[in-house]
Amino acid sequence: SKVYVFDHPLIQHKLTYIRDKHTGTKQFRELVEEVAMLMAYEATRDLPLTEAVIETPVAETKTKVLAGKKLGVVPILRAGLGMVDGILNLIPSAKVGHIGLYRDPETMQPVEYYCKLPSDVAERDLIAVDPMLATGGSAAAAITFMKQRGAKNIKLMCLIASPEGIELVQREHPDVDIYVAAVDECLNDHGYITPGLGDAGDRLYG
Ligand code: PRP
Repeated sequence: SKVYVFDHPLIQHKLTYIRDKHTGTKQFRELVEEVAMLMAYEATRDLPLTEAVIETPVAETKTKVLAGKKLGVVPILRAGLGMVDGILNLIPSAKVGHIGLYRDPETMQPVEYYCKLPSDVAERDLIAVDPMLATGGSAAAAITFMKQRGAKNIKLMCLIASPEGIELVQREHPDVDIYVAAVDECLNDHGYITPGLGDAGDRLYG
């Protein structure tokens, strides 16, 4: 699988303010949405096109439109929700599935508490979204749950990843390409990405 790290100046600039602890909730939400939109622009680069014939006010012309590939966005609750609207701005016809996970405090294993995916999930190109890829446990489990329900074509999009998280997802899901805005140094003792941006769910929703 491939890992794409976006170095676009607009993404890097906005990510700086997302990381800054002085950035308040309103601006944080807006920035997460904007970066998700810019990332979706890049992550949809391989969408198939088909020929169309239209008339401009001047002449008839052969041109191109999207071939109608069905898409789906799957936020990992809660924080993944913060990226959904930005992506839907670009691909409004995408369906949205939801996956909720928590970590069992005893076993530290991710447990699914909610999962609702589009009924035709097998036919869709899916983008799983979560701002943070820390240990990678949540994303790897979410992708496993998606596959168990028939999903075949999955990408993972995160704002910030740790090297460990990328490695785990690649090991468990070699078919899944990963799109991130930044790869940070490491995880701290609490499993937080350092320097990261803190707890994305808390910064979005309190
Ligand atoms: C955060 C984040 C990821 C997960 C990353 O969610 O949004 O889902 O942790 O950690 P991992 O890669 O080590 O699994 P959190 O558990 O804080 O839940 P929330 O989104 O509901 O706040």
